[in-house]
Amino acid sequence: MKPKVYVARPVPPEVKSYLQAHADCTFWESKERLGRERFFAAIAEVEGLLTSGTPINEELLARAPKLRIVSNISVGYDNFDLEAMSRRGVLGTHTPGVLDDTVADLILAMMLAAARRVTELDRLVRRGGWVRGMDEELFGLDVHHATVGIIGMGRIGEAVAKRARLGFDMDVLYYNRSRKPDAEARYGATYVPMEELLARSDFVVVMTPLTPHTEKMIGREQLARMKPTAFLINASRGAVVDEAALIEALRNGTIRGAALDVFEREPVDPANPLLAMDNVVLLPHIGSATARTRNAMAMLAARNLVAGLRGETPPNPVPELRSLAESLGHDAKRKG
Ligand code: 8YV
Repeated sequence: MKPKVYVARPVPPEVKSYLQAHADCTFWESKERLGRERFFAAIAEVEGLLTSGTPINEELLARAPKLRIVSNISVGYDNFDLEAMSRRGVLGTHTPGVLDDTVADLILAMMLAAARRVTELDRLVRRGGWVRGMDEELFGLDVHHATVGIIGMGRIGEAVAKRARLGFDMDVLYYNRSRKPDAEARYGATYVPMEELLARSDFVVVMTPLTPHTEKMIGREQLARMKPTAFLINASRGAVVDEAALIEALRNGTIRGAALDVFEREPVDPANPLLAMDNVVLLPHIGSATARTRNAMAMLAARNLVAGLRGETPPNPVPELRSLAESLGHDAKRKG
């Protein structure tokens, strides 16, 4: 008998047929989110859940007692309550690697858009504000040969370093829990303490996962260390930055500007003061938003799900649950 699976996000046809070949699937095709109670009812009997962003917490796990694996269609997994999942022996997987270049491209676009005021001046032209004789009032800041500071030198951080160094002759500084000799050798990345990175960078790129340790890691004190000509770039998670402190720093000129693809609340509140600021580039969480990359993420997530349901160790268990995945994998083999 095929295991029951609930697919909580629309997926491309090839992923659908792949899943149907291995599981008894229920697909939620609408972009609207299913109400909480209807969602809990839909997952009450399933062994596998394919989703992105759904909080996988004690409440959900209690309502889905047969659940064995949750597969995220995302590299980030701050929606996982890892302790609760581990306690209940529920595997969690994610989709690293397949989106690195797509997200890194957007980060360079965000740096260029902020420094060269692309969205701001696009608005100026559209409202007929471009008049003859305008010159220095249209000036921006150079990206080439500037210094980029990457906080969180994971795969995406390294893809940013590569573009910055090889494409824009930038100096690359980085701060990370561990040294990255490859990035140092290939892209001349220099490991520095956080304070030094903040003080020396023209672009501070936040690329850390959201964890209890990184929540609000960029607050008033960190922003105050940045140059008044510098830009903050965030395409990781909104809550890594203290948004109120950022708004204050942008208002009083502590930093020159920002480019944000993620926010504390998403979609962003239309009344959020950031929306009225000309020196801020605002994007609707599109880091990985190309059809090719999102389809690759969905297929990888489907493969993770099917492997886990088979009792195999999936290709991409989240690091904190890898040992659980391996122990369950061994058990399956032993039982097999
Ligand atoms: C996802 C992302 O599309 O992968 C991630 O962590 O943030 C994006 O690529 C988003 O999480 C979907 O909700």
